[in-house]
Order: sequence, then C-alpha cells, then structure tokens
Amino acid sequence: MKVGVLTGGGDCPGLNAVIRAVVRKGIFHYEDGFVGFMEGWRGLLEDKTMDLDLSSVGGILPRGGTILRTSRTNPAKYPEGLKHCAESLKKHGCDALIAIGGDDTLSVAQKLFTNGVKVVGVPKTIDNDLAGTDFTFGFDTAVNIATEAIDRVHTTAEAHNRVIVVEVMGRSAGWIAAYSGIAGGADVILIPEVPFDIEQVAELIRQRHARGRYFSIVVAAEGAKFSDGNEKHGGAAAQDGRDEFGHPRLSGIALTLASEIEKRTGFETRSVVLGHIQRGGSPTAYDRVLATRYGLGAIDMVHRGEFGQMAALRGNKIISIPLAEAIASNRKVDQEILDAAVGILDKLDYKVSPRA
Ligand code: F6P
Repeated sequence: MKVGVLTGGGDCPGLNAVIRAVVRKGIFHYEDGFVGFMEGWRGLLEDKTMDLDLSSVGGILPRGGTILRTSRTNPAKYPEGLKHCAESLKKHGCDALIAIGGDDTLSVAQKLFTNGVKVVGVPKTIDNDLAGTDFTFGFDTAVNIATEAIDRVHTTAEAHNRVIVVEVMGRSAGWIAAYSGIAGGADVILIPEVPFDIEQVAELIRQRHARGRYFSIVVAAEGAKFSDGNEKHGGAAAQDGRDEFGHPRLSGIALTLASEIEKRTGFETRSVVLGHIQRGGSPTAYDRVLATRYGLGAIDMVHRGEFGQMAALRGNKIISIPLAEAIASNRKVDQEILDAAVGILDKLDYKVSPRA
C-alpha cells in the first residue's frame, strides 16, 4: 500500500518516534511505500511532500519536533480545502492517510473520512486532553520538564523568602499543572477545570507563611480561570490573535497572579512562564515507547482497514476507537487526580469549587 503521513497542530516530543515506527513496520512487515505531507494539512493543500523511507527516518527516534514539520492549517477555512486534500492524496497514489495530531487535526481527519478518505488517527498533544485515550505521547516529557523547573524554582524561592508562580501549558485542561504540581510539591495548583478565588489563594499562602514557612510555589495552567469570571484577569492575558481553529493564544496568567498575590499578601512574588520549553527537546523513554506503540498500532489499523478510527491507549493496551469519540469532547483532569492535587495541600482555606 502507499500511505500518506502528516503531523498537525502544536509539535510534541515523540512525533518522530511515531513516524519512524509507522515507516519501519510498514516497510519491513507490509512492503508499504510512504509519502510525507509537510506542515500538517498545508502539505495537502499546497502539495508539499517529502520522501519517507528507511533512510529519512534513520536517527530520528530521540529527536524532538517533527521531520514533517507542522502547522495549525485548517483546510475547512479554505475554499474547497477538504476536496483539495482528497485530490492531493489521489495525486500521490495514497491508499490511506495516517494523521498524527490533536483534536483539531483529528477533526479534519474525521471530516475527510466522512467524505470517503481512508484515514487513521494518532493522538498527540502535550496537554493530554484528548478523549478516548488514557495518555497522549509528549505529556510525560512536558511533565518532566515542568517538574524539573518547579524543583529549580523551589530552591531560589526558598533562598529569597519569595512566592514564585510557575505557568505551564494547558489551554482547557490542567493535566500538566496537576501532574507537575503534585510531582514538584507545589503549594497551590490552579487548573482550568476549577476556577479559583484569588483571595483564597492569598489566604492559603498567608496561612502557610504564618505556620513558619517563608516561601511558596504556585503552579498555574495557562488556561486557569479566576472565579469572578472577569476575563481581564487570566483570560485577558491572552495575546491577540487566534489560530485557524479559533483558539486564542494564551500566556500571562502567571504575571497577573504574581502581582495579585504580592498585593494581597505583602510577600515578594515572582513569575516564570515555561511556554514552549515544555514542547521542545528529546522525548522521555516513556514517550518514545508510547509513541512507537501508537505508530505500530496505526499502521496495523491501516492494514486491517480500520478507517475513521484512532489508535488509543486503554490501560496498557493500544486499541482502536472511532475518531468521532476522540474529538467529541475535551478530556478534563479526572476526580482522582484532582483529589490527589488537593489532598496534599493545606485543607483549611483552599476549597476547590465543584468542577466548572
Ligand atoms: O497544543 C497544545 C498547546 O501546547 C497548548 O498547551 C498551548 O496553548 C498551545 O499549544 C500553544 O500553541 P502555539 O505553539 O501555536 O503557540
């Protein structure tokens, strides 16, 4: 078979490991040929391709980024965009397409599938918020990077008697904040799922310092929300401009939080935004293995004819689920992880409001 491969949306450590696994198993076990579409859906719209063979995937397993490059191009925003995508696949003689991406990329894959394209999805996002799968690759790497940053910030906060707010990625789900906050021993963890009262946050820090602690670490997801719903706080730190899927560019809640905390508590406060550092560099061993398993799962699905499906991790098994299920909703931090995040925090004043 001839199989097209593309990577779409924000990049993610482990993308190259997926591509490598798809190509190696395809060539060694099925005698497939491959064509790589460059820069996400843009590659199909603008006919940008590269050869994908054993030599092009050589040495890429530990490399971050993606050899196919990526973009947030949305074909549905272009006149006859979806039709062009299907035509491009035909032109290159592709019998099937493997689309590696998050909910945006996979929602385009689903549209193409309903238009008759044979497509299989692979779930990718450092945010870990895709429905239907237990973990997406890249998340573990991001959590490890954020945890190391929190450990480093700890020692300088302690040395200076400061509060430090660490902003991590997580637009609509706080998986990275929850995991790295727990792993890094944060004193306050703020996630989009649970809007927070800034006065309660300040009071928690005051109480902690009254107990003799003289520094605090706050971990906030970029999409965390103030409970007064006032967009001028977190949401409005969003920079101008939206991508082609309509998502605002978030960043800045740490700065707003730091100034509010300092004003309310009188404790010197600083902020750090980890940003794209969380997405760059080499994947962890866990992510390399998971990404490889997803890639192997996807090429097997192509040969079983399981189109309109996505490779997913359930428990410790790679299974196949409908793309429609994966894009139906955004996967929020579950109650058990929420309880773990809150369970180790000061109980008295920090009441987590019910899930928004
Ligand atoms: O795709 C997930 C993500 O990493 C979000 O956490 C973040 O808000 C966004 O991508 C950043 O996107 P970009 O790289 O386009 O600035």
